[in-house]
Amino acid sequence: MTHVLVTGATGTVGRHVVDGIRDVPDLAVTAASRDPVRARDRLDCATVPFDFTEPATYRDAFAGVEALFLVRPPALSRVRRDVVPALAAAVGAGVEHVVFLSVIGADTNPFVPHARIESWLADAGLETTFLRASFFMQNLSTTHREEIRNGRLAVPAGNGKTSFVDARDVAAVAVRTLRTRTTGAYDLTGPEALDYDAVCRHLSAVLDHDVAYTDPSLPRFLVSRYRLEGDLAKVGVMAAIYTTTRLGLVDRVTDDVHTVLDRPPIDVRTFARDNRSAWL
Ligand SMILES: NC(=O)c1ccc[n+]([C@@H]2O[C@H](COP(=O)([O-])OP(=O)(O)OC[C@H]3O[C@@H](n4cnc5c(N)ncnc54)[C@H](OP(=O)(O)O)[C@@H]3O)[C@@H](O)[C@H]2O)c1
Repeated sequence: MTHVLVTGATGTVGRHVVDGIRDVPDLAVTAASRDPVRARDRLDCATVPFDFTEPATYRDAFAGVEALFLVRPPALSRVRRDVVPALAAAVGAGVEHVVFLSVIGADTNPFVPHARIESWLADAGLETTFLRASFFMQNLSTTHREEIRNGRLAVPAGNGKTSFVDARDVAAVAVRTLRTRTTGAYDLTGPEALDYDAVCRHLSAVLDHDVAYTDPSLPRFLVSRYRLEGDLAKVGVMAAIYTTTRLGLVDRVTDDVHTVLDRPPIDVRTFARDNRSAWL
């Protein structure tokens, strides 16, 4: 039995990793959370208190753990200060295999925090699996849920296309690589790259109302999004992501999900159907 600790277990990908591990007889899962009671209620599995920024939580969290599903919480961008101490504790506690939720392009862009984490893990002599995921379809049902409910999607992406991936596929690949202890790096995308007009057409087709893509200017997006989020750093990251989309830098489609799972990745239309209730 391999004991897996799942960080980010209450998040978009981690919750599906926990679910997936439950179905694998030779894996045992513990969910790490800053609020383990709430996590146990939500996930119905063993939980342990864990906070990257609280070293006092490391010892119990990593005790007896052989494999780690690693999520860098979006708010923690100071890798050396906020993430590396926990990773060092994991190595010291005997963790052997780390499956890291990275981001597509981390191998070519040294400025993203994920690149620094990949590099640290590679140097640490661990068995590593880097899941370099494209933009999650779930951003449409979380970050952009309210506006889609109201019939519009306002992102400054122009006609740029995105190779959206469903977080459930990312989690399924994570579970498969944990089970088979496969190392390496995977670029995880959906089956096609779509622009936001096409995304809105798929959303309109499954909802009872039309969803229109408005392509605001970058300044207009920054102002209106800041009013909504109240978090300048988050809005800055969003603006950077949609600018790379506008520039045509995030439209690469790969076969990696298909190769690992032996089935095609979930497409946006299926995602929209499965998550219809989020926008009603
Ligand atoms: N969104 C995308 O399109 C996309 C695409 C590719 C890669 N990524 C990467 O995916 C990662 C985020 O994954 P996600 O979207 O699944 O997560 P998420 O939904 O944003 O959830 C964040 C998770 O981090 C945990 N967390 C927050 N602060 C923490 C702390 N100080 N210590 C320990 N845990 C903490 C939270 O758990 P508790 O509240 O229970 O502690 C929560 O489970 C990021 O690194 C992001 O760059 C995102």
